[in-house]
Amino acid sequence: MTSTLRAQLELLDLHPAATDMRQQVIEGMAQSPKQLPAWFLYDTEGSRLFDQICEQPEYTLTRTEAALLQAQAPAMAAALGAGTLVEFGAGSARKVSPLLEAMERPAYVALDISAEHLGEACQRLHNRHPQVPMLGVCCDYSQLQQLPPHALLDEQRRLGFFPGSSIGNFPRAEARALLQQFRQLLGSSAKLLIGIDQPKAVERLEAAYNDAAGISERFALNLLHRLNRDLGANFQVDQFRYRARWLPEASHIEMALVSTQEQTVSLCGLSWSFQNGEALITETSHKYSPESFLALAAEAGWRPEARWSDAAGDLSLHLLKQAD
Ligand code: AVJ
Repeated sequence: MTSTLRAQLELLDLHPAATDMRQQVIEGMAQSPKQLPAWFLYDTEGSRLFDQICEQPEYTLTRTEAALLQAQAPAMAAALGAGTLVEFGAGSARKVSPLLEAMERPAYVALDISAEHLGEACQRLHNRHPQVPMLGVCCDYSQLQQLPPHALLDEQRRLGFFPGSSIGNFPRAEARALLQQFRQLLGSSAKLLIGIDQPKAVERLEAAYNDAAGISERFALNLLHRLNRDLGANFQVDQFRYRARWLPEASHIEMALVSTQEQTVSLCGLSWSFQNGEALITETSHKYSPESFLALAAEAGWRPEARWSDAAGDLSLHLLKQAD
């Protein structure tokens, strides 16, 4: 029977250019307040700590979204229709399985900046879904003009998948640009399934980003260790304290390291002074109501097709299609 044949797994390396961390640090430290790009948090140790955050009782986003995907996969698969799932920033690709199981003849393309993670993730997924043709593309999808030519992409409709509310890490204008970029890469008949975390009680939000076990704090402080190691900075890690607060006007959680004394830090051959109480913002996490997210999506040329939400209304998976 052909159905027992293993489908192919292919890997493609587009050799994404190394991003200039130094330049981004200099720009970020010149801002007021000082703020560094969120991706700086994810070195090897940071990625490990983030996985641990996802297991903390206060941080429900990952579990709630996984349960929603599991429960609604048949409805999502029906609404998506036939095509190739294209996951942006697939990471360890642990979320897509329910969709691959529910779709009729799925194909899967994973895009990720880390070649090593991508290879491992695709291999694991391939073992779990041996009949699903897969392609892993190592690239910086924010910089691509188009997806590489490949049968899985050219002969089927492209169905974008961007779970985890990752878009929340981008300021609004950048989030809009990213949604436009997805549109460009997916083409005219595309759809996009995207996970969005929603505003909720301030106590819950602040606890999710400041768990009792202190993992969120270690995750943020790890940024300073990374800058010390990779850029020769001299941050005194014990002279900063972690703070996560909900800013209702901005509709985001702001995560910051606050200097506990006046101090000077040197990095990249420059020095930067911190006042006592001055913050270095490590990341922001935006929460969108369904209406505010759809307004943003519309600005980027996407129209709503369907939405699935957990019973408590904590988060949604939105299915979008291209505006005509
Ligand atoms: C990966 C951006 C979805 O904002 O909830 C969690 C990142 N940082 N705890 C989030 C994060 C600290 C996370 N996202």
